Amino acid sequence: NMSPIDKAKFVAAKRACDYVQDGMKLGLGTGSTAAWLVRCLGEMVRDNGLKIKGVPTSSRTAELARQVGIEVISLDEAKWLDLTIDGADEYDHDLNLIKGGGGALLQEKIVATASDQMIVITDGSKRVESLGNFPLPVEVIPFGWQTSKALIEEVLVGMDVLGTTASLRMNADAPYVTDEGNHILDLHLNRIGNARQLSLVLNQIPGVVENGLFIDICDIVVTGYGDGRVEVQD
Ligand code: A5P
Repeated sequence: NMSPIDKAKFVAAKRACDYVQDGMKLGLGTGSTAAWLVRCLGEMVRDNGLKIKGVPTSSRTAELARQVGIEVISLDEAKWLDLTIDGADEYDHDLNLIKGGGGALLQEKIVATASDQMIVITDGSKRVESLGNFPLPVEVIPFGWQTSKALIEEVLVGMDVLGTTASLRMNADAPYVTDEGNHILDLHLNRIGNARQLSLVLNQIPGVVENGLFIDICDIVVTGYGDGRVEVQD
């Protein structure tokens, strides 16, 4: 018996599987919604003989994909992907996203950008009029992260977007470490005026590796609801 939120994520993942065809090279997202997708794909591999190769966007997803019997390859082996299916933390009506709540934004952005198409699977609670309520994750290298944080705050004040502050993401008592060995700063912005400009400005700062704004990357959003309804936007 699934909770309404799990049901919503599950039906979105299930619908996204309709886009998957034999022989495809697929980017596999990270997070609880993407985990439903990976399990659905595993079932299709096992029960229907679906032939796919998957490029995971995190060590967590790689482990799950192998567990459910999906052939896992690296992005460099794949070179290019037909389709990436991933979750998101927020999406707007232009299909721009905030991602990285699960800490995997760097690999997620590289993989999604290397794909002909990106589909986001989500539940209705993540739809927003304007991005920025969800804290924006920014991946920074550990060296000098406090200096990078100060620079980011300075730049944001200049752009008039910083609501409160940037906080270092923690894992119990230690800084959270990404799959690439970096840290994450969560920016509490409330409202982002110009997401495209903000993304460019952040990535100009030394020490910043990548940020969680996905602009013009997502092609289709599949939204599931607790009652089993699914909506597709493209
Ligand atoms: C992972 O880094 C994120 O970008 C996820 O896609 C996002 O956090 C969505 O996760 P859920 O599906 O668990 O909400």
